[in-house]
Amino acid sequence: MSLKMKTSKRRRSAWIVGGSLGVLFLFLQLFRPQLCNPPVVAEIAVPSRVRDILRKSCYDCHSNETKLAWFDQLAPASWLVAHDVREGRRYLNFSELGELPAAKQQGILFEAINQIELGAMPLRAYRWSHPDKMVSADDLATLKDYLISTSPQPIAGAAERNATLDQWMAWSHSNARPEVSPAPNGIPFFSDYKTWTAISTTDRWDNQTMRVVLGNAIAVDAIRQRTTNPWPDGAAFAKVAWAQDSDGSGNVQAGEFKQIEFMVKGAAKYADTNGWGWARWLGAELTPYGENAQFTGECIRCHTPVKSRDFVFTIPLETSR
Ligand code: HEC
Ligand code: HEC
Repeated sequence: MSLKMKTSKRRRSAWIVGGSLGVLFLFLQLFRPQLCNPPVVAEIAVPSRVRDILRKSCYDCHSNETKLAWFDQLAPASWLVAHDVREGRRYLNFSELGELPAAKQQGILFEAINQIELGAMPLRAYRWSHPDKMVSADDLATLKDYLISTSPQPIAGAAERNATLDQWMAWSHSNARPEVSPAPNGIPFFSDYKTWTAISTTDRWDNQTMRVVLGNAIAVDAIRQRTTNPWPDGAAFAKVAWAQDSDGSGNVQAGEFKQIEFMVKGAAKYADTNGWGWARWLGAELTPYGENAQFTGECIRCHTPVKSRDFVFTIPLETSR
């Protein structure tokens, strides 16, 4: 066979392939995913400057007002888009939050802003295909400023400060092992956590809490050995949160005990929940958090942006070996 014949044959087969793909493409368009916009129940109650940002960057997947670009409506992309919208609405629907108590709406907004800051939202493929819908630095500042304005720092009076100081002293000196019920997923309370090592402190910028992250001996050893990704089985973290009490002149002290939460590593034991056991107890009474074992979904979703660090946010300080 001459070279010429070979190329023309190849060209012909390229056309056949191209033509078949074209036909397939048209055929695929017959399968339109079911995607409709149900009525808006109660939109999140925020000022319009905040809503406009959410509308621009989030509403396509997190509201009942999805607006698809023409290229979003072509199969097979349309199937992925429909899937994202369905999943997105399932987890967070700005068209249905408006009737929740204000504090709850603010909590959801806090989580939303966290996801933006961590680069997890909007979804990467969406940012890439819809560059006009990115959250700009100015947008982010607007969202944060609004959220901060909704929870001004309360001023605690002397009596209040003394009461929380007493609570704090009792907490830090008590060695009693309270009988605490296990979390709904069966994880027992770690009553020895006060002997763990402080690894980091953070403050949540929107709701005035102080938090300390503690690690158990296995976690601290892993930090020393630099074997933290993945963390070894048995490594555990506690995150303890207190309110902040401010006296109005810049002095802040730990206030009321809010909650304590734990993550304990067990690659096989907790394989169903991404290799970690998750648990949280609320208030001085240490009431287990969550109605049933499904509460861990909430923890995992928020920790997923740091999946590449084995789901742990805290970056340990460098220590000498
Ligand atoms: C292209 C679709 C899409 C866009 C646009 C989008 N998201 Fe999402 N979002 C999803 C999907 C899908 C999920 C659920 C699965 C996951 O986390 O990947 C999700 C989950 C979330 C969650 C987790 C909810 C939970 O209960 O844990 C938050 C918070 C969130 N998105 C915030 C935002 C914010 C804020 C924006 C806009 C800045 C945004 N998303 C834009 C698709 C989207
Ligand atoms: C709104 C998002 C969000 C949710 C929901 C969430 N976390 Fe976290 N978690 C964080 C962030 C952010 C940190 C990093 C420390 C900080 O900023 O306070 C963290 C840190 C932790 C730590 C310390 C180890 C680390 O990763 O740094 C533990 C333990 C923890 N979380 C447990 C839980 C448990 C248990 C749940 C569910 C009951 C949960 N978290 C739900 C955002 C979240």
